[in-house]
Amino acid sequence: MPGALRPEINQWLKITKWELIAIYGLGRMIEKQNFDRRSFLKSMLGFGSTLALMPQLVFATEQSAIKKKIPSSGEPLPVIGMGSWQTFDVSDDAPERTSLLKVLQAFFDRGGAVIDSSPMYGSSEQVIGDLLKKVSNKQALFAATKVWTRGRKRGIAQMQRSMQLMGVEVFDLMQIHNLVDWETHLETLKAWKAEGKVRYIGITTSHGRAHGELEQILQNEPFDFVQFTYSIANRDVEKRLLPLVAERGIATLINRPYQGGGLFRRVKGKPLPPWAADFDCASWGQFFLKFAVSHPAATCAIPATSKLRHMIDNMGAGFGRLPDAATRQKMIAYYESL
Ligand SMILES: NC(=O)c1ccc[n+]([C@@H]2O[C@H](COP(=O)([O-])OP(=O)(O)OC[C@H]3O[C@@H](n4cnc5c(N)ncnc54)[C@H](OP(=O)(O)O)[C@@H]3O)[C@@H](O)[C@H]2O)c1
Repeated sequence: MPGALRPEINQWLKITKWELIAIYGLGRMIEKQNFDRRSFLKSMLGFGSTLALMPQLVFATEQSAIKKKIPSSGEPLPVIGMGSWQTFDVSDDAPERTSLLKVLQAFFDRGGAVIDSSPMYGSSEQVIGDLLKKVSNKQALFAATKVWTRGRKRGIAQMQRSMQLMGVEVFDLMQIHNLVDWETHLETLKAWKAEGKVRYIGITTSHGRAHGELEQILQNEPFDFVQFTYSIANRDVEKRLLPLVAERGIATLINRPYQGGGLFRRVKGKPLPPWAADFDCASWGQFFLKFAVSHPAATCAIPATSKLRHMIDNMGAGFGRLPDAATRQKMIAYYESL
């Protein structure tokens, strides 16, 4: 009986008694009918509203998140991460903290790992650090932040403060924000990496800025990661930067995959093309994210959201199939026709 298993399973999946009974029922159906994979998926869909209440079951039983490797180490990373600019910049007693906790929990429950922040993002590092203490299921955390100041001493002090704020002993990724005083910080970061104080080092830009200088830097310096803007509406990096990182073996974090939310304005009230289902895409958000991460040189997109339903939507883009090269061209043509 499900009741007998409830305490352990319940704790593991974070589900209610009724959801557990539904799982039990589904298990019995499968046992009786000897389903193949296709019929299994069909019957899962048939559960409709029940599944909507417990999407973690789908992920736990049938799918695993799409991952891509960090070229410098071979370590796999889920292709959907999360940003934190504006969305996690809330005050100590803000009521939004309660909903942000759910957003963060949903991120980990759906296979998320990469969280990107910066001292530039107000209270975001602090809020992430506080909420991380309360979420479960966070073993996969890949913590990334940035150094955004001038001078060696100030850079070191800022990075140490970020460790305290986010509650991270060793950052997985420390990035130089917007190329600010990059030569100074790179020296510190090379030493920190050698000492094991950070695992990977990176450099960022956004909005298509400073691409020429970034290209020069990436050609000559040993960065593991670069972060820049790439979206279906802003494809500048396809010309030089994405081919360069592919050649140099540098991982990419894709920022502003929704152009700060602007992409949704263009598609408001417009239907997804029916062929979006061919690459397991169920929403415009997934259409945009699957476009970004299906570039062969894209490692992980970091959309930002303050809403639980948007986090669930975003994480869904990290499952199922990705569009191939021909489909990507079709996606651009369709988006531009709207
Ligand atoms: N130079 C740099 O290093 C740099 C620069 C820019 C950005 N970044 C990083 O990249 C991250 C992402 O960029 P961004 O925050 O500028 O923009 P973005 O992720 O392209 O867009 C964020 C906006 O999209 C909305 N949104 C998110 N998911 C949605 C969904 N499924 N459906 C509908 N709307 C959705 C959010 O609103 P809701 O809150 O309502 O969901 C928010 O307004 C940043 O947070 C930051 O971590 C780094």
